Amino acid sequence: MNLDLKDKVVCVTGASGGIGLAIVRAFLHEGALVCATYHRNPDKIEQLKMQLEPSLRTHLHAYHLDLQDNHSHKTCISHICAEQQRIDVLVNCAGAALEKPFLLLTPEEITQQMTTNFSQQALFTQQVAKVMLAHRKGSIVNVSSLLAKRLGRGVAVYAAAKAAIDRFTQTLALEVGKKGIRVNSINPGLIATKMSKNIQANMPADLMNMSPISRPGTPEEIANAVLFLASDRAASYITGVCLSVDGGLSI
Ligand SMILES: NC(=O)c1ccc[n+]([C@@H]2O[C@H](COP(=O)([O-])OP(=O)(O)OC[C@H]3O[C@@H](n4cnc5c(N)ncnc54)[C@H](OP(=O)(O)O)[C@@H]3O)[C@@H](O)[C@H]2O)c1
Repeated sequence: MNLDLKDKVVCVTGASGGIGLAIVRAFLHEGALVCATYHRNPDKIEQLKMQLEPSLRTHLHAYHLDLQDNHSHKTCISHICAEQQRIDVLVNCAGAALEKPFLLLTPEEITQQMTTNFSQQALFTQQVAKVMLAHRKGSIVNVSSLLAKRLGRGVAVYAAAKAAIDRFTQTLALEVGKKGIRVNSINPGLIATKMSKNIQANMPADLMNMSPISRPGTPEEIANAVLFLASDRAASYITGVCLSVDGGLSI
């Protein structure tokens, strides 16, 4: 199926991470123009650029974004708009998971988990949604987590922030649907990236074995689901959905 993403301007936050890089690659292969944001690791996007064939290379643009810094939001969005004129798709993939017993978390860690994984993402989304509203068209895909729906130890605040992202997805979908913007989220299960290394090591083997597809997922499997939800052709009637992509772990 043609997803009709060719020449769409797609902003992917957290593009320098394991899942983000796969999402960037997938959109580039659909012919989209990708604005990839990084925080501390611009080299990851540079490395990807070097691996791409020249025709795709010109479709990839890197921008700095620190979600914790509101000034950085404004700079990032204004650079994208100045260079690409619009934003058709926003994929909120940036995130930071801290696995630590709740009673040992410092106040700074609690705040940081909540702001990076939820409230600052909401602020960034608000700025991008204003750009989309000017064109009365857009698609937003939030990368949430299985932990928003299923219990996990040592992730109380991270899980709460992801649950907030899911509710945000649903209520924002209601607010902006009539204005031509769809909002959905993806709930990945355990995906093989740097972020999940510790979680995989601490996960009981029988939990993974009990799941219908008894293996961790790949970043590409998340990227395919993001493409689907982002596409106005494939998912034109889908909004406010929190889609589990977890090999059945959430059953
Ligand atoms: N891996 C999993 O098993 C799994 C499961 C469920 C959900 N998720 C979610 O999937 C998303 C991507 O995860 P991943 O596994 O790809 O993690 P990752 O490899 O650690 O990547 C995290 C990304 O977020 C960016 N980031 C972190 N703090 C930021 C900040 N303050 N401002 C802007 N960007 C920031 C990082 O940028 P730099 O590297 O440039 O600093 C990086 O691009 C996250 O939202 C995560 O919660 C992952």
